[in-house]
Amino acid sequence: MIVSIIGGTGPQGLGIAKRLAIEGVEVIVGSRKEEKALDIVANTKEELADYDLNMTGMANEDAAKAGNVLIITVPLVAQKPTIEGIKEFCKDKIVMDATVPLETAIGGKPSRFIDLMEGSAAERTASILEGTGAKVICAFCNISNSHLANIPEDIECDCLIAGDDNESKVIAAEIIDKIPGIKTVDCGILEKARIIEKITPLLIGLNIKYKSHYGGLRITGIPALDKE
Ligand SMILES: NC(=O)c1ccc[n+]([C@@H]2O[C@H](COP(=O)([O-])OP(=O)(O)OC[C@H]3O[C@@H](n4cnc5c(N)ncnc54)[C@H](OP(=O)(O)O)[C@@H]3O)[C@@H](O)[C@H]2O)c1
Repeated sequence: MIVSIIGGTGPQGLGIAKRLAIEGVEVIVGSRKEEKALDIVANTKEELADYDLNMTGMANEDAAKAGNVLIITVPLVAQKPTIEGIKEFCKDKIVMDATVPLETAIGGKPSRFIDLMEGSAAERTASILEGTGAKVICAFCNISNSHLANIPEDIECDCLIAGDDNESKVIAAEIIDKIPGIKTVDCGILEKARIIEKITPLLIGLNIKYKSHYGGLRITGIPALDKE
């Protein structure tokens, strides 16, 4: 199983790439520029020399083609062109989307959300990928890059996910739950991304208010996702 991170050179994508690679997942870091991806992967391998990372860098299109599972970690402004650019390689694949529609996309505050015509960023991705058979899942929206970068500490947060295909959500959860401390919570159909994505500006606001980088979320009182 190869997991490709599209836009994997930023703090969110690289954080996910590092965490998964440490757990033995084969990871490709994607970028608009292959050279940038290769440089960042080389630096990452130096930084995490204690781990045997199976990680390489590629242009986003090549990463999308090579990956069995894709994770989208680009800013909202880049979402549409990026997804359109990899669309032909998404056929029947699991596509996790971490995009959060923050007001920063239009020069506003990171603690505020902007409403999208499609209802959520993940639904926007699904609408662009319509007809490809891609299984879009909202994921990683509530896990901060600070937590991801805080290696080797466990990430004591839940990863809320939503998507319309149950089998794909089980596979996604198996990948996400490899990261120590994280528990994946299946919130239901893709439309639930409208709620999940809105939690992120709330957490950012809390981080600002309490001068933290580690605001996170735990849902209590429900069983773990049934992966049988
Ligand atoms: N940061 C967090 O803590 C966090 C938490 C939850 C969710 N998210 C979401 O995850 C996504 C990524 O966050 P991030 O902080 O890692 O973002 P970022 O650093 O702004 O961007 C990630 C990567 O996207 C590519 N990119 C940037 N601008 C682009 C453009 N105009 N067109 C095409 N590609 C572009 C760049 O890669 P190349 O230059 O290599 O192509 C960049 O390294 C966002 O949607 C964010 O809302 C972030």
